[in-house]
Amino acid sequence: MNTPLIDPFARPISYLRVSVTDRCDFRCVYCMAENMTFLPKAELLTLEELDRLCSTFIRLGVRKLRVTGGEPLVRKGIMTFFRTMKRHLDSGALDELTLTTNGSQLGRFAQELVDCGVRRVNVSLDTLDEAKFARITRWGRLSQVLDGIEAAQRAGLRVKINAVALKGVNEDELFEMVEWCAARDMDLTFIEVMPMGDLGEEDRIDQFWSLRDLRAQLSGTYTLHDLAERTGGPASYVRLQETGSKVGFITPLTHNFCESCNRVRVTCTGELFMCLGQEDRADLRAPLRASSDDGALERAIREAISRKPRGHDFDYSRQHVAGQVSRHMSHTGG
Ligand code: GTP
Ligand code: 5AD
Ligand code: SF4
Repeated sequence: MNTPLIDPFARPISYLRVSVTDRCDFRCVYCMAENMTFLPKAELLTLEELDRLCSTFIRLGVRKLRVTGGEPLVRKGIMTFFRTMKRHLDSGALDELTLTTNGSQLGRFAQELVDCGVRRVNVSLDTLDEAKFARITRWGRLSQVLDGIEAAQRAGLRVKINAVALKGVNEDELFEMVEWCAARDMDLTFIEVMPMGDLGEEDRIDQFWSLRDLRAQLSGTYTLHDLAERTGGPASYVRLQETGSKVGFITPLTHNFCESCNRVRVTCTGELFMCLGQEDRADLRAPLRASSDDGALERAIREAISRKPRGHDFDYSRQHVAGQVSRHMSHTGG
């Protein structure tokens, strides 16, 4: 009954990313359109349904749970969810309970997150320049995020910064960001921009900054030591000898890492996406709502995992975007 989830390519599924809201207080240009229509509340899974859903995945072998959005910390009552999930850390069923956030609400919630057993947060921050930050996030204020990061560190959380590598946008800040993170004892991960949502093909290709190139730039200044250690996510890491800090690379375009994929994501309406870069999905809300028994839910999960695809088809070679998916990144929380 509780046999673990293994997909058709023999990959065990041990990492669940759950999006708890489609809303966000920012409008990052590569993630959302400026005028988004958000879902009515009845469409969302309730906090109790989210609990049942995640607990079922944990029973089936998930050991790492990442809460995402939209911006997860704008979901009303979200601390109740974290508090109830803590029991899976306490029982030893779960290794890690964590979140990816834009940082804007960390000032309010950092201490409570620690109390719920969260040890580490990933904060999305693409620039340290106030005007640029406002341009990228459309609605965000840099100082609020910096305060949030400080509050998180004060509360004892490890912070990892996620920066989407954007040509002509944050290229000139590479060394400043590396030094800034190192000085604050934070890891820094760069992400290649993926073709998701409705941004035009030309814009996307113009923006794309290959991490192969970024890495080459880094090695002009620092001595890079490849690290074998992984966090369960898709990044590979190096240690910079001169700063002692860790830098990660998430390279869906220049080096496909799907072979070692261990994750699936659930949206805030209970759609299970077996791959970030494909459209196929399974509805888990219907079985959740059909019965208070988790049998049908479990069958729906197993059936979906049995069709998890080999990987994404993102590709920008030959100056053309291939493998684009039309939904925005905010739909699945990355
Ligand atoms: P760690 O636990 O620190 O390893 O975090 P993580 O990298 O698993 O999570 P995070 O939310 O920081 O993810 C960073 C970004 O990596 C996501 O927002 C996505 O853009 C990208 N990413 C994560 N998983 C996948 C994946 O399976 N495929 C692709 N193409 N990109 C992914
Ligand atoms: N390509 C790559 N990363 C993206 N993110 C959002 N949109 C994209 C995209 N199109 C990142 C955010 C955040 C994480 C959830 O996903 O910056 O770090
Ligand atoms: Fe919000 Fe994150 Fe999307 Fe930016 S990337 S709009 S902060 S969900």
